[in-house]
Amino acid sequence: MSNEDLSDFLDEDILSDVDEDENVGNYHDGNDLNDLTGKEWIKFTKSWKIYRPRSRGQSEKDHPAKYPEELVEDFIGFFTQEGDWVLDPFLGTGSTLVGSRSMGRNAVGIELTEKYAEVAKERASQQSLNPVKLEVINKDSRVALSELDREFDYCLTSPPYWNMLKKSRGGVESNQQKREKEGLDTKYSDSNEDLGNIEDYDAFIDELERVFLDVYDVLKDGGYLTVIIQNIRTEDGEMKPLAWDLASRLGETYVLKQEKLWLQDDKSLGIWGYPSEYVSNVAHHYCLIFKKPE
Ligand SMILES: C[S@@+](CC[C@H](N)C(=O)[O-])C[C@H]1O[C@@H](n2cnc3c(N)ncnc32)[C@H](O)[C@@H]1O
Repeated sequence: MSNEDLSDFLDEDILSDVDEDENVGNYHDGNDLNDLTGKEWIKFTKSWKIYRPRSRGQSEKDHPAKYPEELVEDFIGFFTQEGDWVLDPFLGTGSTLVGSRSMGRNAVGIELTEKYAEVAKERASQQSLNPVKLEVINKDSRVALSELDREFDYCLTSPPYWNMLKKSRGGVESNQQKREKEGLDTKYSDSNEDLGNIEDYDAFIDELERVFLDVYDVLKDGGYLTVIIQNIRTEDGEMKPLAWDLASRLGETYVLKQEKLWLQDDKSLGIWGYPSEYVSNVAHHYCLIFKKPE
């Protein structure tokens, strides 16, 4: 469709004023990706957004790394339509299920650690006006994915960021040290099946790739995959470009479409390298967007 044909759906000033304008915009009959208006569509495609997590319920606090439901709703709202099926192979405490339900989508989540799977089940069982199906599978994804007997329209997930949770990074009190003091979990589990416990970086990427190749098999043709991830810093001060390595690795099978940045403006800053070394205060995550070819 040419830009002229689209003009009925996109107000002239939409590209410049999309954030300020209250008008929702127009729906397009030919939109087979999502239920958004042209204006809502454009708004999502901006390559960054600030997300602040809502305060967590007591049962979710124990999990060391949860993503915000608003992020889940935005991504699911863009990459699916009402009634579609969403998959999360690293479910944690179930944010993807909660976000799917509020958007009227069905979802299946896989989580290795029993106590997080139980929290996810409890959150998924809460009553809602949206009559959707939500399922939690408490298993290793590398086993559970090959046992799934349905196709999915979209996969949204955030895997362990290698063994980052197990490493101390700096002399001042880190978030991990604060959590330890409060008696909260500082790693997901001690299990050998937990990808966050793999010591070797290349072996970790291999296993992560294996999971996403299994996801490929249950994703419908033309379906999208979004992986929330960060580049990370080792204890020696070297950066491991995990997000970029994964993008390049999965780009051999999927089509790598883009990244969108989740910016965090609510993280306190640490004086990690001061006064002799540059150490970044990392306050962004990559949302890597891939597509399975049609
Ligand atoms: C970054 S967290 C996911 C957090 C989730 N997005 C949320 O908002 O709660 C990664 C999760 O992957 C789980 N995990 C690690 N290895 C796994 C495996 N082999 N199969 C399934 N889950 C695994 C961990 O227990 C952890 O809960």
